[in-house]
Amino acid sequence: MKSYKDAIAFQCLKETKYDRSSIFRKDNIGQIPTPPRYKTYPDVLLIPLPEPRFENTDSLWSILKERRSRRRYAYEPISLDTLATLLWATQGITHSTHGYEFRTAPSAGALYPVETYLAIHNVSGLQPGIYHFNVAEFALEEINPGNFADRLRRAAMDQGVVSRAATVFIWTAVVLRSMSKYRDRCIRYIFMDAGHIAQNLHLAATALDLGCCPIGAFYDDDVNELIKVDGKEETTIYLGAVGKR
Ligand SMILES: Cc1cc2nc3c(=O)[nH]c(=O)nc-3n(C[C@H](O)[C@H](O)[C@H](O)COP(=O)(O)O)c2cc1C
Repeated sequence: MKSYKDAIAFQCLKETKYDRSSIFRKDNIGQIPTPPRYKTYPDVLLIPLPEPRFENTDSLWSILKERRSRRRYAYEPISLDTLATLLWATQGITHSTHGYEFRTAPSAGALYPVETYLAIHNVSGLQPGIYHFNVAEFALEEINPGNFADRLRRAAMDQGVVSRAATVFIWTAVVLRSMSKYRDRCIRYIFMDAGHIAQNLHLAATALDLGCCPIGAFYDDDVNELIKVDGKEETTIYLGAVGKR
């Protein structure tokens, strides 16, 4: 019988450690192709987002004190302005230099392996459906119109927070973007990146007096099928529900 000491979690940590003798470990995974820096859906409807609005004057300190995972929301829409501000907070481009575009959240090697999809349930000015955030254009790409609130709730292990939300952020990892530089260690950095992005969402939502809840419990491939990613080279890693309090 195996013991907890053989758990994959320990193996993963062990196999992805850096040590002084071999920074790039003795893996045999060969050449790794580098995917494009930005994912886009050229054949779908592109919806430009309004400029983000920074109206809340609360201090960072009071926002940190106020932040809580909230799972009950009013059945009211959030506005497109609000959604744009939240998206900007998570992954908006804030600085360009030497061919690099830097964003609100840090990313290992500035490789930005995390993509954002949205399940829109109740956002004024947008029909319900699955959208992809086009970071470079600061726009939404409409991938699949329809109301997917119940399907996403079932995919999230029947957590009602997901269908009550006005929108659910669905974060995926384009694994090769990070793996092409960091080899197996990418698996650590991808999740660190996602944590930064999710915390930015949480703080921005709090600043806008919205409820927000991070969601790590979901049937991975059910969500992958919903947003039409392969579940291997691009796979869902985290969700964030947002709605009016
Ligand atoms: C990685 C991660 C995964 C989480 N997954 C879920 C989840 O699936 N469902 C849920 O209701 N809350 C989820 N939460 C929220 C936690 O339950 C919450 O952060 C914790 O109870 C602390 O409460 P607070 O966020 O209000 O401080 C998750 C939080 C994190 C950081």
